[in-house]
Amino acid sequence: MTTPVATDLSALPTLSSQLNELDEAQLNGFADAAIALITQATAVPELQELRVQLTGKKSSLTSWSKQMGQLDADDKKTYGGWLHQVRSRISQALSEQQQQLEIAALNAKLAKESIDITLPARGGQKGHLHPVTMITQRMQQFFVQAGFNVATGPEVESDYYNFEALNIPSHHPARAMHDTFYFDAHYLLRTHTSPVQIRTMEQSAPPIRIICPGRVYRNDSDQTHSPMFHQLEGLMVTESSTFAELKGLISEFLQAFFGKELTVRFRPSFFPFTEPSAEVDILDDNGKWLEVMGCGMVHPQVLTNCGIDSDKYTGFAFGMGIERFAMLYYGIDDLRLFFQNDVRFLQQFG
Ligand code: PHE
Repeated sequence: MTTPVATDLSALPTLSSQLNELDEAQLNGFADAAIALITQATAVPELQELRVQLTGKKSSLTSWSKQMGQLDADDKKTYGGWLHQVRSRISQALSEQQQQLEIAALNAKLAKESIDITLPARGGQKGHLHPVTMITQRMQQFFVQAGFNVATGPEVESDYYNFEALNIPSHHPARAMHDTFYFDAHYLLRTHTSPVQIRTMEQSAPPIRIICPGRVYRNDSDQTHSPMFHQLEGLMVTESSTFAELKGLISEFLQAFFGKELTVRFRPSFFPFTEPSAEVDILDDNGKWLEVMGCGMVHPQVLTNCGIDSDKYTGFAFGMGIERFAMLYYGIDDLRLFFQNDVRFLQQFG
């Protein structure tokens, strides 16, 4: 759909409609005036309209051309030359102007739509790893350097791997401490990473050196407990693993992790799957003991459960809460902050 454009042809000289009454000068003057009109056109539709008026079916030029047939041979040649001249000058002016207008329109569009690339940017925000991930990696780094492999296991676990194989039969009082989320009689959300010990020992022969970081679940929620949290489990089984070696490794780890000399204490404790068992404490700057992990020598029955000869092999294991380490490392007093995903909190760890 084109909107009609008014064109004013009054600037054209009034010429006779009879071709044989015209001379070359008149026709050239007509062409000059037409070209002047064309070069004044400021928009493509206007030019389009001029083209129709000047060269279309109802134009003077066309009506003169039609009269060519009535001329004698000599006049035909003369007038033919003149008319051809007029028509080609007008056509050329039309197409030149058309080009000019298109370029002008394109330039105007480009100018309007141009983007000022010199404007300073708003500043992109770079993301970073979650603090719990960073702490996990920091822990892993130490143990991987000490020759441990990273192992994983399912978070939906069977009662057998989470409890039974770890020397925690049903009705064992230790189960009460786990606040387990059960799916049914057989399946549950693992309450600790220790089932990965069992899965690893079932599948590989000693020597075994693994750590297992991962999510664990307990039905518990307050400032220091979350229904989902992370643990890092460690297991080493060889022909000569000793409690002294466990103590040395854990002490080294704690000093490396916190990056300073620490007073470390191994306090007798109980886990059904380790014997003897210990709780590891570190002394903080205020002279207070902070409990940081559980550990012990793998119970011979657990080795036997996994098909490992407990007369030939000994092992030790340890397990720690990753958020607990993150809280100590960063000085955070509410565990729930790690899971609320408040960007103002998370940004501080970039
Ligand atoms: N699985 C124990 C817990 O969740 C921690 C632990 C792991 C203790 C390995 C001893 C050896 O409390």
